[in-house]
Amino acid sequence: MRHFDLSGGDRLPALGLGTWKSAPGEVGPALAEALRLGYRHIDCAAIYGNEAEIGAALQQAFAAGDVRREELWVTSKLWNDSHAPGDVQPALEQTLRDLRLEYLDLYLMHWPVALRKGTGGPQSAEDFVALADCPLADTFGAMTELKQAGLCRNIGVSNFSVKKLTGLIESGAGIPAVNQVEMHPYLAQAGLVDFCGSLGIVLTAYSPLGSPDRPEALRASDEPVLLEDSAVVDIARNTGNTPAQVLLAWGMARGTSVIPKSVNPKRLAENFGAAGLELTAGDLATIDGLDRHRRYVDGQFWVVDGGPYDLAGLWDEPGC
Ligand code: A2P
Repeated sequence: MRHFDLSGGDRLPALGLGTWKSAPGEVGPALAEALRLGYRHIDCAAIYGNEAEIGAALQQAFAAGDVRREELWVTSKLWNDSHAPGDVQPALEQTLRDLRLEYLDLYLMHWPVALRKGTGGPQSAEDFVALADCPLADTFGAMTELKQAGLCRNIGVSNFSVKKLTGLIESGAGIPAVNQVEMHPYLAQAGLVDFCGSLGIVLTAYSPLGSPDRPEALRASDEPVLLEDSAVVDIARNTGNTPAQVLLAWGMARGTSVIPKSVNPKRLAENFGAAGLELTAGDLATIDGLDRHRRYVDGQFWVVDGGPYDLAGLWDEPGC
């Protein structure tokens, strides 16, 4: 399996299994099938609400001897309601109990947004905590201690723009090993790729297929469907692959790890097959040309009347 080297020396498998939106009852069998197919990188998060089922499937796979813990890369994410430094370690410990693991390979700060303790999805301004009152650097500092305590091997962030990364690094909190962001040909973010590359931060692309099953609230009627893009479909046809494989191969070719979500055995196998696909420079350039600065997961759910967050403050600019 291809991999990317993290700053601390660990090797992040280039292709992993996404579990956002994987429903209860589906995620366990999907994970078992993924492990059988050879997936060795699992992307999780406390807020996905399915870590306990993933943990049970992992334990079964370990017990059956299908895979050893040290062969597996497991990522999870700190939810926004646990940004206060004293809440960070208990949050990770809960995730470790759910996943039935002693350590994570990577723990990410899920969003540069803080919520009041106990808030899953915010309803009103009172559910938020302003970053001035709970700075990202303090949260990241507490995550650094988790690493020192041996509870996770690497720490990183998610949904961080160049500006947010710069602020974090300038604060002296440290350099994240990974930044996980929405990334696909319609949201290529070449500036973020260059910036992270210059600092040795590896990017992981979530929603690399354009997240066709994203919640209704994240949909607009005029949205282009990435998997149906005619240039992608043409390249797939000409190379004897599928559109999903072409999208994933493009992501890996530009040095970003990809975590397509699937709960379907056929599509799990198809996606895994993309790890061996090398596109020509011409095809890669064609796909580079598809950028539309289109964010499917735009963070609008962090913006409420009277709340401390707005979209301009979340991203450097909408498509970057
Ligand atoms: P399913 O889980 O039924 O396979 P993303 O990773 O961008 O969030 O996309 C996930 C969505 O894409 C899910 O709806 C998933 O459905 C679907 N999907 C996953 N793999 C493929 C594939 N190879 N071809 C088409 N759709 C796919």
